[in-house]
Amino acid sequence: MKTESSQWNNNTAFLLAATGSAVGLGNIWGFPYKAGENGGGLFVLLYIFFVITLGLPVFMAEVFIGKKGKSNPVSSIESLAAKSNSSASWNIVGYGGILASLIIAGYYAVIAGFVLNYGFLTASGVEEGAAQALWTDQQSQFGDMTMWTVIFIVASCYVVANGIDAGIDKAMRFLLPMLFILVLAMVIYGAVAGDFTKGISYLFSWKSDDFSAATVQAAIGQAFFSLSIGMGTLMAFGSYMPSNQKVSKASGVVVTADTGVALLAGLAIFPLAFGLGFQPEGGSALVFETMTEAFARLGSVGQFVGPLFFFLLAVAAFSSMISILEPSVAFLTQKFSMTRMKATGIILIVCILLSLVSIAGHNVWKDLSIGALDNPFEAMKYFADDFLLLLVGTGMSIFVGWRLQKVVDSNTMGIENKAMMNLWIFILKWVSPIFLMVIWILGNLKVLFDYDLVAVILAV
Ligand code: PFF
Repeated sequence: MKTESSQWNNNTAFLLAATGSAVGLGNIWGFPYKAGENGGGLFVLLYIFFVITLGLPVFMAEVFIGKKGKSNPVSSIESLAAKSNSSASWNIVGYGGILASLIIAGYYAVIAGFVLNYGFLTASGVEEGAAQALWTDQQSQFGDMTMWTVIFIVASCYVVANGIDAGIDKAMRFLLPMLFILVLAMVIYGAVAGDFTKGISYLFSWKSDDFSAATVQAAIGQAFFSLSIGMGTLMAFGSYMPSNQKVSKASGVVVTADTGVALLAGLAIFPLAFGLGFQPEGGSALVFETMTEAFARLGSVGQFVGPLFFFLLAVAAFSSMISILEPSVAFLTQKFSMTRMKATGIILIVCILLSLVSIAGHNVWKDLSIGALDNPFEAMKYFADDFLLLLVGTGMSIFVGWRLQKVVDSNTMGIENKAMMNLWIFILKWVSPIFLMVIWILGNLKVLFDYDLVAVILAV
């Protein structure tokens, strides 16, 4: 059985693939609406704070596991556990990541399917005042949603089936430059056609009234999701890194690019929304309802700018989806000695089945609540993003911080300064596990049991 990964054939492949993974719907669809819901500037500041203090260290830990373990998420952890005399059961962290990646694939593709559909809808023109009804109608169409979702999944699987160089690297080399140009074009358009000053002040002004434990949870969850932490993607991509590439530098580049695009997305969306007289607190419908209405008001210009915006979203979603598929495909090929083609075929079927559940959550199973969660779509999203992701993040942090101290080396990490290295280990050992677990417990108590422990403590 061959468990070692092959390597990217050049030094920029990891940077491109990991940035393509990180920059996705989370940045352009998720970040602006979450900032809108959580009081603008305060959320943005918290987000940046968590990206630097927790996101980057745990990101580096995940890439390190992959690079040093040189295999899929499960086998990498197993081989490092053996090297450090740790139990092989640590591989549960890898399995958790793969499970999260599959569930995410199942709902992410559905949102991406809407994006494709909306590209065409806005191109053919949406009448003023019709966006809200259109969004309600689109969510009720099981057949249409399935068609767009399946197109998206098949296209992503096609790239993955072609391998890491001829498939993933080649696609990223084309997608990423396009993505950056499109984001910049949207920012410039927002600045010219929208209310740029109002947009900026919304994004960066401090509104302390809106501060609550939920803001902290939202900021940290968003930071991890946006950086693609905790789903095995970074381990898989890290395992293909050439030996002379350094983990810390590569991670820094990707994290900076991801945060930059999230801020740029805010700068593209808020000025346009304000300029057209909308409040950007539209929740997850911000993109499909508010932006579509904004494009409708622009008349024939909207028939050009609208599709451009949705094309940008589609490109971002596509490069992320490719990366979401990689951990499970790598796992199947290496653990079961399957061809990449066969492994991708199996994952394709799993993704389609999961996406059907998530599609049904919008219509036929719309009212099928699962515990405190409204429907299967929300349940999948919650279970992967808020439940599993933080658990896997904590697991990787503890594994590297406590078990791999003898395995971690400054050469692989590219950290020469001893104090910096100690700080990184200290964060992994203490800060991130404690912080992530407190957030995890508080968040789950609130969402699953409607028990607001913070309010109870504050009231005492
Ligand atoms: N980081 C991506 C986004 O912001 O949309 C989503 C994502 C990609 C999550 C890859 C997880 C992953 F493995």
